[in-house]
Amino acid sequence: MYNINKVKMLEFSEKGDERGRLVIIEGGQDIPFEVKRVFYIYGSDKDVMRGQHANRRTEFVLINVAGTSKVKVKDGRGNEVIFCLNRPHTGVYLPAMVWKDMYDFSEDSVLLVLASEHYDAEEYIRDYDAFAYEIEQVKEKR
Ligand code: TYD
Repeated sequence: MYNINKVKMLEFSEKGDERGRLVIIEGGQDIPFEVKRVFYIYGSDKDVMRGQHANRRTEFVLINVAGTSKVKVKDGRGNEVIFCLNRPHTGVYLPAMVWKDMYDFSEDSVLLVLASEHYDAEEYIRDYDAFAYEIEQVKEKR
């Protein structure tokens, strides 16, 4: 199975009462990995493109806890899929070895990212052709 087929939207349980809402995400239960790292992105202009990389090992879940953005995921073989992140109780799961571009940030966008690994610049592939080449190598080994 190609990694892009593992990309999926996740819906988290939301508890609401007169005091407001609360969303619950338990590592290894509501998402398919234990969380080792959390970061969030805000203050990006609408015309900014972020991401533009693939990760050899790290899996991610992206959640717009406020505002909206889009993520385009590419498999390095010509297939791509776009997700609109626009609800605080939904996220998108991204396995390792997919290319991701985040863009179309609303002014109030806060994009929360949960990651399966600590930061390691060496496992980021920031050149699309290099990513596509690595995907080809894996395919040939099959
Ligand atoms: P970058 O990967 O370019 O962000 P994005 O994926 O949103 O486009 O990261 C921006 C800078 O922050 C870059 O210098 C690397 C650094 N960084 C860390 O030190 N730790 C992290 O966990 C992340 C995600 C980035």
